Amino acid sequence: MRGAYPGAIMYDVLADLLARPAPFSVSTTETLWTDPHIASEMLRFHLDETNDFASRRKSTIDAFVGWLDRRFPFTGASVTDLGCGPGLYTARYAKRGAVVTGLDFSGNSLAYARKAAEAAGLSIDYRQADYLRDEFVGNQDLVTLIYGDFCAMAPSKRRLLLDKVKAALKPNGVFVFDVFSTGMLAEISEGTTLESRLMNGFWAPGEYVGLKSTLVYRDEAIGLDRYLIAAPDHTFQVYNWMQYYTPASIIEEVMAAGYSTVEIADFRTGGSWAGGATAFAVIARP
Ligand SMILES: C[S@@+](CC[C@H](N)C(=O)[O-])C[C@H]1O[C@@H](n2cnc3c(N)ncnc32)[C@H](O)[C@@H]1O
Repeated sequence: MRGAYPGAIMYDVLADLLARPAPFSVSTTETLWTDPHIASEMLRFHLDETNDFASRRKSTIDAFVGWLDRRFPFTGASVTDLGCGPGLYTARYAKRGAVVTGLDFSGNSLAYARKAAEAAGLSIDYRQADYLRDEFVGNQDLVTLIYGDFCAMAPSKRRLLLDKVKAALKPNGVFVFDVFSTGMLAEISEGTTLESRLMNGFWAPGEYVGLKSTLVYRDEAIGLDRYLIAAPDHTFQVYNWMQYYTPASIIEEVMAAGYSTVEIADFRTGGSWAGGATAFAVIARP
């Protein structure tokens, strides 16, 4: 091992790592969801019913779909799930009698979802699409977007999505999604971790060094997990931004996009949300 590194590259890298990027100024969403190795690791986590890493655990999904069905009956309803991943929600909607479309840009997750639907004898229209760029199916009774995906988008993209969903809904349709609460942000502290094969090989096959740096922008209620992954043959970064909400702040944002009513609910029960460090559901009508 040499005692000195040539040139100024190391300074640039380290100085950049310590900088605080402006909120949502860098977007790496597609690397996160489409890199082949990360996509297969992500699918593995989606399908692990015992943890909440990429999808919620089975009991939570069942509880959510149960109350949704009681409030907005699935039988005969036209339903689109945005960012459907491997189809954990779409399959449940279809089993309860909905006419379901699932949109996702991950070919890997959709391949799994299609196979699972076929094996279960379910007819679900899965489409590989970017919900910020591509067209939605219109005249929907219900559109869902689950697992804090709303929070991961920059404000202009969130507004674009709210507009697109509103246009895709029937006049009495409903948009149901979940957001992360400021109570969750309160439990996050800033810090940096440097580890060989950070997260047990999640980021790349073979050897690599991973650096994770967590930043909190308290005034803006935003968090950033920034990953720098250095493998022998390539280096890349992933920025996971997250906007955290209070009921008042999400209601204000959704109403500003022209929705007529916005309700907050407990994600698991559909009843009133008790607050604290959990996500909550948002029910918005055009
Ligand atoms: C956190 S996962 C949640 C998956 C699923 N909703 C669940 O809870 O099991 C986010 C999903 O959204 C997809 N996704 C993210 N941004 C997207 C976009 N702009 N267009 C389409 N799919 C997107 C990803 O590929 C991934 O499958």
